[in-house]
Amino acid sequence: MSKTGPIVDQADKLRRIVSSLRERSEVIIDRAVKKTGKKARLIAVTSGKGGVGKTSLTVNIAIKLSKNGYRVVVIDGDLGLANVEVMLGIVPQYSMYDIINSGLSLSDVIIDGPMGIKFISGGTGVVEMAYLDRRRFDSLLDTLSVLDSYADFILVDTGAGISRSVTKFVLAAREVILVTNSEPTSITDAYAILKIISIHNKECYIKMIANMVESPAEAEDILARINTAAKMFIGAEIKSLGFVKRDPAVSKAVKTQTPFIIGSPKSAAAKSIERIAQRIVYNTEYIREPEGVREFLTRIYLRMNSS
Ligand SMILES: Nc1ncnc2c1ncn2[C@@H]1O[C@H](COP(=O)(O)OP(=O)(O)OP(=O)(O)O)[C@@H](O)[C@H]1O
Ligand SMILES: [Mg+2]
Repeated sequence: MSKTGPIVDQADKLRRIVSSLRERSEVIIDRAVKKTGKKARLIAVTSGKGGVGKTSLTVNIAIKLSKNGYRVVVIDGDLGLANVEVMLGIVPQYSMYDIINSGLSLSDVIIDGPMGIKFISGGTGVVEMAYLDRRRFDSLLDTLSVLDSYADFILVDTGAGISRSVTKFVLAAREVILVTNSEPTSITDAYAILKIISIHNKECYIKMIANMVESPAEAEDILARINTAAKMFIGAEIKSLGFVKRDPAVSKAVKTQTPFIIGSPKSAAAKSIERIAQRIVYNTEYIREPEGVREFLTRIYLRMNSS
């Protein structure tokens, strides 16, 4: 019995030391970011209709960029089914919810994924973040801004459609990848998203990926159909970032929880992802000046609190 006291004291002391060390390291990282002014390129991946391949594409593009030497963080911004986690076969203990509600730091919440990518689960924090009072929002902002020092790219896998939690990401991001397949409903819903973005997020660079197509011609046809409507009704046009063919390697990857860029690197889908990643990095037509996490989150907050 007499030992309990000192053991508890020691554990407590240790906890305090660890927490003060962590606080100090975060302050240093934060200062470093402010000093270098380095910002991540944040890209939201979305679709009109669900089930068109957002998560598969996000995860594999992230891994390809990481293989090419970039530091990549994937945020699962889809409230629904913890998509990214399932696809990577990882079980994060904490999410953005815990940053907001338990004051956890970024290092508690961010976890390692395959090939050097990092992963953050949004959890219900995705909804909560827009409804915080200014003080709590600023604290979340301080925590998440450190991401700019972790990442060259931040890919946000959003849910599908035009629900509030999806649009807040899509309307705050300056770069959006819109995924569609060739089903008429998927194309119509993609057009609907394009229209909303063109009205409410005029500075956004939005690019399309046609997924699960049978041929390059089918991808061109999808693009042409969206652009016919877009030119006529919104005076805009969407550019293609590439296409991915329907490929059994993709469904196999989902079943085995091993991204196809790792499990089937020679597959047609993997080759397509390589081309898409190259365009994201090198094609000046697709590149946007990185804006960083702070600007992105502030836009979400302001938008939610002004509507
Ligand atoms: N190019 C492809 N070839 C074959 N199957 C594919 C392809 N892309 C996606 N799929 C399959 O389609 C299904 C849906 O993919 P995924 O989960 O990535 O879509 P999603 O848009 O993220 O869906 P949700 O809207 O539910 O989040 C998966 O079973 C996946 O294997
Ligand atoms: Mg998904």
